[in-house]
Amino acid sequence: MARTRTVFVCQQCGNQQPRWLGRCPDCGTWDSFVEQTMRKGTAAQPQATPAATAQPITAVAAAGFARLPVEGEEFTRVLGGGLVPGSLVLIGGDPGIGKTTLLTQVGARFAARVGPVLYVSAEESVQQLRLRAERLGLLHERFFVLGETNLELIINAIGELQPALVIVDSIQTVYLEELASAAGSVSQVREGALRLLQVAKRSNTPILLVGHVTKEGVLAGPRVLEHIVDVVLYLEGERFHQYRILRGVKNRFGSTDEVGVFEMTQAGMREVSNPSQVFLAERSAGTPGSAVAVTMEGTRPLLVEIQALTAHTQNPQPRRTANGFDPNRLTMLIAVLSKRVGLPLFNQDIYVNVVGGLRISEPAADLAVATAIVSSFRNQRIDPHLVLVGEIGLSGELRSTSQLERRLSEAAKLGFRRAIYPHSAGEPRIGGELQLERARALDGAIRRALIDQAQAA
Ligand code: TYD
Ligand code: MG
Repeated sequence: MARTRTVFVCQQCGNQQPRWLGRCPDCGTWDSFVEQTMRKGTAAQPQATPAATAQPITAVAAAGFARLPVEGEEFTRVLGGGLVPGSLVLIGGDPGIGKTTLLTQVGARFAARVGPVLYVSAEESVQQLRLRAERLGLLHERFFVLGETNLELIINAIGELQPALVIVDSIQTVYLEELASAAGSVSQVREGALRLLQVAKRSNTPILLVGHVTKEGVLAGPRVLEHIVDVVLYLEGERFHQYRILRGVKNRFGSTDEVGVFEMTQAGMREVSNPSQVFLAERSAGTPGSAVAVTMEGTRPLLVEIQALTAHTQNPQPRRTANGFDPNRLTMLIAVLSKRVGLPLFNQDIYVNVVGGLRISEPAADLAVATAIVSSFRNQRIDPHLVLVGEIGLSGELRSTSQLERRLSEAAKLGFRRAIYPHSAGEPRIGGELQLERARALDGAIRRALIDQAQAA
């Protein structure tokens, strides 16, 4: 029978310890342990499927997954082609990033196209949900809303309505009565998700779960759920920029390489099908400090403007600020520029900004960032028709990057005329008018990228 014991559970990753710790040994989060009483024996286990027999892999039917269509190319692509019946999909993201807005849109359009949808709103009232849907022009009579936080009652409602899609917003605000801990705690979130997984598998209904990412560890983070659910998508972006990226982190039915790009507008989340054009739309091509990088978001090349500003300072510890770029990487690039290119940057504040609120996490943007810094420092413009691709090594050498052909083809498609990239990458075949220029080292690339005569800085 049920026994009670006390454990301390990390609210970020679910690590359990017999006593309180200041820092989680597993995920490194500080002050994230919360005492919980666990009732043994109540844990919901996924139902055992009928005994299976072993068979040669060649005898297994090669059919793909049946998929339900969802509206919108971006969302569909990230899912890997549509919603798989019976799948449990987690949509994580910071509060206020647009999860409810996106899922209201997805839900209402699914209702119009496929069948009844149940939107369980455990956070906002159904009136709020209606107001939003009305404002976005998404009212539909097959779009059902339920304001409920008790998971048993939610599951009953799913059984009664038998919808074609269920959305639970959010997993951290629903609770199971049988568990002692509060809604949002690790055990509630985990047990709740397991219970919904059962419902999804048994009824063959896809369920979308909203999960807030929390920094303070007050609520259990989506990391607790990642191994339970079939698909994990994160909605990312800077809250005060309009662009959002939906990124696949785990997908049992497709590739995790895909991203969808959205724009948060007055009329909800709008799909952006030509992101490069959008990110370059307000480019300050005429001013020093602006460079164009080609970054890969999954399998999709994306051209983005990188801006840099250097400003003289008396401060012995000059500022280095990066927006959308790894600050440690920036520090390294500045060191390489000082040592290998001979730029006296020790008395310069340096700011780097990736335009549009995008976050670049790959080193292929190094060359554009470094060149933008030099451009600002020397007050010389970079050729506005040029894209820069390449990782920079510690000795100032350019190192080749993955998927160069894709990147350069995208640049050619958008009308760029020159590309500087690492010598070691060979000579990819690119259509269009793009002039390909290989460079072995940073200083050579910089010399060719800047178009104005050198001026006294
Ligand atoms: P929301 O979807 O409620 O975020 P989440 O569910 O992830 O917490 O989005 C909230 C923000 O989105 C809020 O700051 C207002 C903004 N927003 C728009 O800019 N346009 C819109 O059409 C809507 C519905 C919201
Ligand atoms: Mg919300």
